[in-house]
Amino acid sequence: MVEIRLENLRKTFGDVVATDQVNMTLHEGELSTLLGPSGCGKTTLLRLIAGFYTPDSGRIYFDDRDVTDLPPHKRNTGMCFQNYALWPHMSVFDNVAYGLKLKRVNGMKYTKAAIERRVNEALELVRLSGLGERHIHQLSGGQQQRVALARALVIEPDVLLLDEPLSNLDAKLRVEMREEIIRIQKELSITTVYVTHDQQEALSISDKVAVMDHGYVQQFGTPREIYHNPQTVFVADFIGRCTFIDGKIKSIGEYIQVQIPSNQIIAGKSTIDGYPFEVGESVKCAMRPESLYLERTDPRDNEISGTVTRTIYVGNATEVYFEVGGIHAQALLRPDAPVKAGDKITLYARRPDVMVLPLGGVEALRKVPGHPLFTAPAPSTASSNV
Ligand SMILES: Nc1ncnc2c1ncn2[C@@H]1O[C@H](COP(=O)(O)OP(=O)(O)OP(=O)(O)O)[C@@H](O)[C@H]1O
Ligand SMILES: [Mg+2]
Repeated sequence: MVEIRLENLRKTFGDVVATDQVNMTLHEGELSTLLGPSGCGKTTLLRLIAGFYTPDSGRIYFDDRDVTDLPPHKRNTGMCFQNYALWPHMSVFDNVAYGLKLKRVNGMKYTKAAIERRVNEALELVRLSGLGERHIHQLSGGQQQRVALARALVIEPDVLLLDEPLSNLDAKLRVEMREEIIRIQKELSITTVYVTHDQQEALSISDKVAVMDHGYVQQFGTPREIYHNPQTVFVADFIGRCTFIDGKIKSIGEYIQVQIPSNQIIAGKSTIDGYPFEVGESVKCAMRPESLYLERTDPRDNEISGTVTRTIYVGNATEVYFEVGGIHAQALLRPDAPVKAGDKITLYARRPDVMVLPLGGVEALRKVPGHPLFTAPAPSTASSNV
């Protein structure tokens, strides 16, 4: 088991900055996901960890060992690629055995018997015992996925790297395989980095999630932290559902008072420790659908009034879509909520449930002392004439 430490990583391809300023510690035995939209740099970051790419700058450590300049086969990582990359003309057994045949331990090859034993153990682990002689094209998608996983695991890697391993599977199989991966990961207690663009998947399997956009890690934290304390508008929007209302800060106290266009005031809290909000600053108030209620619980609750455009009964709740001064908002109310399209409604939000977020994404985080992206402001020219 190892801890992976990424220090200030940057990787470009010509003019394209694929990933930049990545600072993270992935704890040993944990499953961390890299989550973000297509092209945000997930595969690039995973390949940097695997050693298939060399960073333009920054260092990668496995525990205290600097592996930045080590080739992939010296890092002892097992990797599943985005498209499995199995050899179709070879048997399941040979696909899994391939890496072991190349591997040397203290300069020694594995014996035939040792290879056979290990491959069979790996196939058992992914529940493919007995299918070793089959050819890849004789397997279902889910079974092929398991072969790819067995191949990554058979070398007993210190680090398991999985690049969208379930993307070719149907919804039901995805959930099934997801559970399998968690089982194996916990059973072996192996430090794992898992790439996905599916936020539901990321929340459900991860110890930690790194939310990426345009090459930057916008937030790295537990699923709960990411959901309840998003650090940027992008994270709040990408993870779960959210209603955003633009406004300007009117005052800052225990709660931040924000004036919204309809001249109403919304009070909420900052989700970013140490962000220097200022009176007059343009911000977004973000609310999760389940944070809106039909009844007031406290006289200081925020009131949000609008017109219902649509309701959807989803069994255990009613989804209510409504408009507040031109803004599309959504609430998740109890199944028997007496609400229908065309109704004027007033909903209530507790002040701690309203998240006040700065504009500017990553640039805003640069103003937070102690944040991995913090950039000290340049000294002003006025004070430089000493
Ligand atoms: N070998 C390469 N040469 C040039 N540009 C590249 C190369 N690999 C990646 N890029 C660019 O770097 C950026 C990040 O790509 P990356 O493959 O890491 O994204 P991703 O998050 O894995 O996307 P997806 O979800 O589509 O797999 C993209 O803009 C991509 O076009
Ligand atoms: Mg990718």
